[in-house]
Amino acid sequence: MMTLNDPKARPVGDGAARLAADRMLRRAAQAWFCVAAIGQAAFIWMIIAHYGRKTLAGDLAGWNDKPIIKGYVAGDALGNFLFAVHVLLAVVVTLGGLMQLVPAIRAKAPALHRWTGRVFFVTAFVMALGGLWLTWGRPTYLSLISAILVSLNGVLILVFAVQAWRMAVARRFDAHRRWALRAYLAVNGVWFLRVALMVWAPLTRGWGMDRTLSGPADIALQLCAYVLPLLVLEAYLRAQDSANPNAKRAVAGLLIGSTALTGLGVVGAVLILWRPYML
Ligand code: HEM
Repeated sequence: MMTLNDPKARPVGDGAARLAADRMLRRAAQAWFCVAAIGQAAFIWMIIAHYGRKTLAGDLAGWNDKPIIKGYVAGDALGNFLFAVHVLLAVVVTLGGLMQLVPAIRAKAPALHRWTGRVFFVTAFVMALGGLWLTWGRPTYLSLISAILVSLNGVLILVFAVQAWRMAVARRFDAHRRWALRAYLAVNGVWFLRVALMVWAPLTRGWGMDRTLSGPADIALQLCAYVLPLLVLEAYLRAQDSANPNAKRAVAGLLIGSTALTGLGVVGAVLILWRPYML
């Protein structure tokens, strides 16, 4: 009788190559996720240390200590309240998204997974609608093109969150997983933007950027912040389904490149953007 450790039971030829390529793909995705989780934890830390602390102390004007932030506006009670809700829920949605992707939570605490999933989707919805109101209703934008590009991100969050929810209700769990991953990446569009800006700006000394986020590089980076991660995800999902080990290896390589770029951007974002507000 063969056991799991019996060499005769191991797949040979194409089967073995496919398993090795699957493992490589999985490890590359895990590496990206670990680096992203560190960067998202730093983002959460900054939000709590800056916005959380100022809000608790009642120093709403202190929100604006961060450059180019129109958080507090004297006399705009509704706008200030909605800004507070937006930035404080940013912690919930970012943390909730991270927790959804931890396999141990999914496997060992399925009830927690279901509840964080519900909280994540409701919060993502509120954040996207609130963000759209802050942008166009308040209004808060650095340039019209930057407002349009972040609004597209908001619309994608709404579409993906609705789709993921619908698929879960219909118990189509494979489709649910795909839409939930898209929603996770779209929700992190604002985080990706900061990471992307902090790769581009130091490497090119700010080529194509200006202070209103309307230079050619700014426009490309704002679009890439959600389009590129979504394209990489589509490649990853296809590679998972593919029987071709070369396709899996190629996407694993793409993920390793993405991990390096994400890591660089996270270091830049922490050192340049967030550190002064994390202490
Ligand atoms: C769901 C994911 C989102 C997260 C986690 C998030 C997070 C944040 C954070 C942390 C801030 C404070 C700015 C900073 O200190 O860097 C902020 C501000 C803001 N967000 Fe969002 N946001 C999200 C989605 C959106 C969307 C989709 C829009 C627009 C459609 C939007 C519009 C805004 C606006 C207008 C501000 C004020 C910016 C300023 O004063 O210059 N957000 N957001």
